[in-house]
Amino acid sequence: MKSATKLMIAIALFTAVPVAAETMREAVLRKAALENGLRPAEELWPVFEPEKAAVGKLLFESELLSLTRNVSCRSCHLDEFGSADGLPLGHGAGGVGAGIERMKSPAGVLSRNALALWGRGGVGYDVFFWDGRVDARSGEVLSQFGAMAPSDDPLVVAAHLPTVEFREMIGESDKTEWLRQGDVATAAKVHEEIANRIRATPEIAAPMAAAFNLNIEELTYLQIAQGIAAFIRSEFRLRDTKLHHFVFDGEELTEQELAGGLLFYGRAQCASCHTGPYFSDFEFHAIPFAQFGFGFNGFGIDYGRYNFTQDPQDLYAFRTPPLYNVTKTAPYSHSGGEMDLVETVRAHVDPLARIDTSKLSVLDRTEVYHKIARWSQESSYAVELNDREIADIVAFLSALDFEPEPER
Ligand code: HEC
Ligand code: HEC
Repeated sequence: MKSATKLMIAIALFTAVPVAAETMREAVLRKAALENGLRPAEELWPVFEPEKAAVGKLLFESELLSLTRNVSCRSCHLDEFGSADGLPLGHGAGGVGAGIERMKSPAGVLSRNALALWGRGGVGYDVFFWDGRVDARSGEVLSQFGAMAPSDDPLVVAAHLPTVEFREMIGESDKTEWLRQGDVATAAKVHEEIANRIRATPEIAAPMAAAFNLNIEELTYLQIAQGIAAFIRSEFRLRDTKLHHFVFDGEELTEQELAGGLLFYGRAQCASCHTGPYFSDFEFHAIPFAQFGFGFNGFGIDYGRYNFTQDPQDLYAFRTPPLYNVTKTAPYSHSGGEMDLVETVRAHVDPLARIDTSKLSVLDRTEVYHKIARWSQESSYAVELNDREIADIVAFLSALDFEPEPER
């Protein structure tokens, strides 16, 4: 071999190795994201109904929707907190202000962390709430309404629930005691009262009647829920993220985001649950997060999905949350007990690192054991991640924030 050729091979090897290695890592991540169902945001857009969405905005922001007339959907789904409320637990009826201010006010406190609304009601998004109590995966909407579901659109059914939840949009007082029956007929009476108020409010009723092509007297809670659903679908539609631009437009990620992405889809197993176009398999899994607050079942306990199915397999299981804009929706987990993303990720793989069991009551300790036993059947069990790897994964999560849309 001539020395010039030798030199060229040496140069080729020297330069090709780092470039080729990097390209391969990028290729692997692009392939993994696609295989796990990442889609351009627009492909998941539902049909938009602008007229209905415009009245839906008025309804979403109207305090007439709470019996106490002091809470609207907006009270807990705020732009500044990525469409959630920035608090560990939702603060409803009687509350004043937003964020920490609201915590100091005499608000009804819910047992769960407010969910964000991004992508809700988009194509294929058909399981709602932490415990999936509205679920349309079978093609039929399963919910507390049983056979009397008010609609075959799961988001419309979901928009029937906040207004009939105690502490959320119904205050606790003697006057509301009769509502505690919590059956479908009682809920219907609350919905009827709200519809009466809206019909008597021309600023909302008139454009609403026009949007639905009905007379004002014909408007019921069904159109209220449909308007709100149209608003949610349009306002909180998915947008492309940095990851989309990387996968579909060949743009770059930082080294750390790339490393985090490879872990997310690879050894860290995140995508065994956070998969599909919404980063959720819409299934129910147990992650041993520290429980915060009184809990859905009381005494600091939340049995999650089990409350609806009574299947022991569903104990402590919650719907995998989607991850769009997750950097903006702290605190995290069903009871909002996780303050930042690093600890949230760590809780998935090393829950005991953060719990001093000697400081817990016997009851709480037993709960932790049960939860960990249930978690041991999950794919995140026995994954080991060091601090640097967790930081890389958190950097990758920030690539799931929506990017500003280009001017059209
Ligand atoms: C008091 C605070 C509060 C108010 C008021 C409120 N929400 Fe929520 N929202 C929450 C909380 C907390 C959750 C999670 C509850 C759960 O899953 O158990 C949630 C969940 C949701 C979800 C489910 C999202 C998903 O991923 O499944 C939708 C949809 C929703 N809210 C819409 C509304 C609408 C519409 C209104 C007004 C009619 C409203 N919310 C009023 C706190 C609130
Ligand atoms: C076995 C399924 C599963 C695996 C694997 C998994 N998650 Fe989760 N993740 C969940 C469930 C379920 C929740 C909510 C549990 C709860 O609140 O009790 C959750 C919650 C989260 C949250 C909080 C979201 C919010 O809005 O509160 C983040 C962030 C998150 N996961 C990221 C990750 C990352 C990163 C990985 C990989 C290291 C991972 N998850 C692996 C199922 C999983």
